[in-house]
Amino acid sequence: MSYETLLVERRDAVTLVTLNRPEALNALNSRLLTELLDVMAAFDRDPEQRCAVITGSAKAFAAGADIKEMQAQGFADMYADDFFGGWDRFTRTRKPVIAAVAGYALGGGCELAMMCDFILAADTAKFGQPEIKLGVSPGMGGSQRLTRAVGKAKAMEMVLTGRMIDAAEAERAGLVSRIVPADDLVDEAMKTAATIAGMAPLAAQANKEMVNAAFESGLAQGVQFERRLFHALFGTQDQKEGMSAFVDKRPGKWSGR
Ligand code: CAA
Repeated sequence: MSYETLLVERRDAVTLVTLNRPEALNALNSRLLTELLDVMAAFDRDPEQRCAVITGSAKAFAAGADIKEMQAQGFADMYADDFFGGWDRFTRTRKPVIAAVAGYALGGGCELAMMCDFILAADTAKFGQPEIKLGVSPGMGGSQRLTRAVGKAKAMEMVLTGRMIDAAEAERAGLVSRIVPADDLVDEAMKTAATIAGMAPLAAQANKEMVNAAFESGLAQGVQFERRLFHALFGTQDQKEGMSAFVDKRPGKWSGR
């Protein structure tokens, strides 16, 4: 299937999604959201696909939600349509998703990157929540996810001033997992995704679910959730296979069951 705003490529067990609206620096419009939700639903359904990478161009991962699409909207339109509500479906993707960010990740672009499971940043990456300069605020979860990622002081400064941070500052603040040279970004993200795709699939989903639970729950509740999922993994064939393979000194062969 071909899309107007995305390029989608499946390389072995990894789905590579490239945001492709160069004329608008990959601004996230409704069409792009619809197409991305379609790709992610197919990715989740396909037992052969184990990890996804979302990337943009060298200049922009995404320069935000599409300002031209929002410009004429009023409160009643935004509220009635639950504008941006569809992004919640993106965050319910069950398999691991990596954001590979080069250039601008601003507003909704930064928010999309933060909705992924982790961010690999090119040395050219710039993150920011500049919505205040448009007379609005983050609307795709940025005020919450940025604050959880970098803490109140930096998040508050970023949303109140619209100041961008570069890759080095983002790494120091804990927003990105690591920085790679821009020319290597997609290769490195695909390599990392292939490593994840090589793990037992149910274990990968469970690990994602429990780390995400750290954002939703208190410590005791999160630890309890982790333990229950850990116990549940002992009901899978892949646990038997993984531990037998270790004892037999051979690589595990995963069934995904
Ligand atoms: N929406 C719609 N179009 C956008 C866009 C956006 N977020 N960002 C860039 N574009 C368009 C520009 O309008 C321009 O189109 P035209 O050629 O038709 O004029 C094209 O992309 C190239 O952009 P620039 O000429 O501005 O490129 P630049 O290199 O001079 O500047 C930039 C780059 C600093 C990223 C600048 O484009 C910019 O500031 N963009 C807007 C950033 C922003 O405010 N993002 C937040 C959006 S609101 C939001 O995201 C709400 C939310 O919480 C989800």
